[in-house]
Amino acid sequence: MKFFIKSIDLPKEKTDCIISGIFECDQLTVSSKNLDNYSNGYISKLITQGDISGEIGKTLLLYDVPNIISKRILLIGCGKKSSFNSNSISAILRNSIKTLNKRSIKNIIFSFTELNSCNNSTYWFIRKIISCIKKEIFTINTFLKKKVYLHSITFNITDKNFFSSAQIALKHSLAIDLGLTASKKIGNLPPNICNPLYLSLQAKELSNSYKNNISVNIVDINEMRNLGMHAYLAVGSSSKNKPYMSVIRYSRKNIVDKKTIVLVGKGLTFDSGGISLKPSKKMHEMKYDMCGAAAVYGTLIMAAELNLPLNIIGVLAGCENMPGSSAFRPGDILTTMSGKTVEVLDTDAEGRLVLCDVFKYIERFSPDIVIDIATLTGACVAALGHYVTGLFSNNKDLVDNLEKASKETNDKVWRLPLFQEYEKNINSNVADFSNIGSGGAGAITAACFLSQFTKKYHWAHLDIAGTAWESGINKGSTGRPVELLSQFLLNISNYNKY
Ligand code: BES
Ligand code: MN
Ligand code: ZN
Repeated sequence: MKFFIKSIDLPKEKTDCIISGIFECDQLTVSSKNLDNYSNGYISKLITQGDISGEIGKTLLLYDVPNIISKRILLIGCGKKSSFNSNSISAILRNSIKTLNKRSIKNIIFSFTELNSCNNSTYWFIRKIISCIKKEIFTINTFLKKKVYLHSITFNITDKNFFSSAQIALKHSLAIDLGLTASKKIGNLPPNICNPLYLSLQAKELSNSYKNNISVNIVDINEMRNLGMHAYLAVGSSSKNKPYMSVIRYSRKNIVDKKTIVLVGKGLTFDSGGISLKPSKKMHEMKYDMCGAAAVYGTLIMAAELNLPLNIIGVLAGCENMPGSSAFRPGDILTTMSGKTVEVLDTDAEGRLVLCDVFKYIERFSPDIVIDIATLTGACVAALGHYVTGLFSNNKDLVDNLEKASKETNDKVWRLPLFQEYEKNINSNVADFSNIGSGGAGAITAACFLSQFTKKYHWAHLDIAGTAWESGINKGSTGRPVELLSQFLLNISNYNKY
């Protein structure tokens, strides 16, 4: 699918279909008015006759409109002009795309000129439209299993002043979508294919695709042993698929004063629970326990596509948690890379064991910001459900920036507390910490455990246990939070947005 930004004289342009809006109370949008004038009141006559109203999402397809060169016009109801917002856009697009695809229409022009009220709104309008279109096409393709005919979409930007922000929006959207799609694709792979080695080979591939900006280093069990990453190693000890930690370094040449941001993704390519075996019913879903790593992978693709002026280090913490005679056990006491000891009370609380060693490892990069992304706790699903990612942090600025990016992309997060009181819940009488918390609040006690290892930098933890995939008949990875992370990086790199 190709996207174009153009300034077009609408009635004189030849395309398969022009999409133009009508607001409630018989108000034509600027482009509809233009088409109406050219066609000697053809559109306003239809409104008077009651053939179409501005009711949101209602469509009317017109053929051979007098004096209009294009084959068709799709009129689409946009609701009340005063309450037009980004939710209206989703409704409008869903119905337009469905209608167009049913008729195998290939090339279309979107014309909603009055929405270019300023650079900022043009930028976000285009971003929102493209993200909606991509989602709709994904649904048609994957769930409805239908062919997608749409081939090119042109946005008509009538005011030249807003042309460049529209182009930037398009560029950003496509890069984010590329990352999102890559992340979903990896997230969806079955665990017999996507094991820790496979994950590391995908990471390695990035240094071929983006030779100038990305280099990759793979840390294997031998190196982990040398480093003393015994918590990470314990989790992977019983699988014949050995753990591999991929360290992907992205940086743009010749930029001074770059921030270093480390993104850490939990990459359990399968989490059986280990000796503390999970119930079998939903165990298959634990192939998605690497979605944090998949999100980091996708986000780096976005960054490399846009050549962002940052240093980003992505760590894919690949590992498989299996039971077996060489498995770690409940009761084991592990010495982490930091030297702190952990009493294992449940081998299913493995994510935090892997992550705590990664947190120590990345100190070597002196990061300004560290964000980990992990399908960490069922308790987070209990607390927040499936719409919202859990956010934990030791730094208010970082929270503000993540919340801003979250609002902009509608990739929702909600902050949960890390009060000092919770530290008692991970006490152990035989080690520095135990690996499960007592006293409820499982998402928080897990985050509290992580926070014991992240004191040297500004850190945020995203618990995506509820948001990384969807269950049921349409099951699949959502690619979250690639959009959130991408926007966060775009914002902090101050990437000439408008
Ligand atoms: N990967 C799971 C968390 C998970 C469970 C995500 C269900 C999504 C759906 C994690 O490794 C885990 O098993 N956590 C345990 C922790 C518990 C043993 C303290 C959990 O949440 O049950
Ligand atoms: Mn587990
Ligand atoms: Zn897990």
